[in-house]
Amino acid sequence: MSSQLTEALQEWERLEKEFQQIQESHRLYLQKLDEVSKMQNNFTASITRHRKYLKDLSQSLNKCSKGLTGQNAKQVEDIKRHIQERPNIFSQMESFLPKENGIYLSLVLGSVNVNLLSKQSKAAYKDEYEKFKLGVTVILLLLAFICQFLVTYRFVDALLNFLLVWYYCTLTIRESILISNGSRIKGWWVFHHYISTFLSGVMLTWPEGELYQMFRSQFLTYCLYQGFVQCLQYYYQSGCLYRLKALGERHNLDLTVEGFQSWMWRGLTFLLPFLFFGHFWQLFNSVTLFRMAKLPQCKEWQVFICGFSFLVLFAGNFLTTLAVVRHKRKTKNQGKSKSL
Ligand code: COA
Repeated sequence: MSSQLTEALQEWERLEKEFQQIQESHRLYLQKLDEVSKMQNNFTASITRHRKYLKDLSQSLNKCSKGLTGQNAKQVEDIKRHIQERPNIFSQMESFLPKENGIYLSLVLGSVNVNLLSKQSKAAYKDEYEKFKLGVTVILLLLAFICQFLVTYRFVDALLNFLLVWYYCTLTIRESILISNGSRIKGWWVFHHYISTFLSGVMLTWPEGELYQMFRSQFLTYCLYQGFVQCLQYYYQSGCLYRLKALGERHNLDLTVEGFQSWMWRGLTFLLPFLFFGHFWQLFNSVTLFRMAKLPQCKEWQVFICGFSFLVLFAGNFLTTLAVVRHKRKTKNQGKSKSL
């Protein structure tokens, strides 16, 4: 037997052994997956059962708490307070369990599980979502720049609006997945993206003409500004994400909750003037379009509808941003008074 053949046979023997090991690992992996899946079902069932018991208990507490005084009344109040805290804790736990998709995700994706089962993969998904937003924003900025300064052609404008429709649609899907994974994104921001999808779709159907040309330059400058604000927002959001991750994992980074809060406030106070300016630009777009809708030569329905959509965007963005800032100030002040 040649030495080459002997070597080949020895190599085959080694590979056979390795193959056995791989098969064993695969069997073990499937077994663990099965155990995890059983544990998930049991865990989900216990949470559902516990929720029902808590509901029954709070109903009976409501009935028997009337007329109670002293120690008993205090005890009942304590229990009620604990019961009120439980739903939040349960939804945090449930964000690590597979669950049925809501209507929107079921329609778009079907009944595939979108819940990521570890903190790291959730953070990685959010990070990737922010990067995706930044990437598409840069392309949108480029396209808006080309439309504004280099090419005046309806087809290129249509490309920009089509990209906007696609971008906002994608955001609605990604954000639903984020929410299902425990993100606290306010409902308005998701609704904002539905309206923006609608608005860009209507802009796409607006035919070329005198009125379109009247609004075109203002709209393109608005797109450029929004892209710029989106880049600032990326810096803020990814900074928050990075610091939260470090806080959660207790990295060697010398970071405390106070350190995070103070970074967040510095970022927010820098960002807010740009955000509010953008909101008032939306109001300005809306007023311009309402004025145009009154012109005798205005025949296109798109003018009024776009004006109305910009108005809704302005009202929602402005009020929600104010509410977010007020809430953050309140929690900051509460934190301060606790530490005194
Ligand atoms: N779009 C998507 N997600 C958003 C969001 C937005 N506009 N604003 C907040 N979120 C997310 C956050 O990332 C966070 O997610 P997480 O729970 O997964 O970590 C969650 O919602 C809660 O965020 P919150 O603490 O309330 O706010 P924040 O500090 O992250 O951001 C603002 C505060 C004001 C900077 C932010 O809400 C914002 O950018 N708003 C303005 C948007 C706007 O007006 N755009 C138009 C510009 S012209």
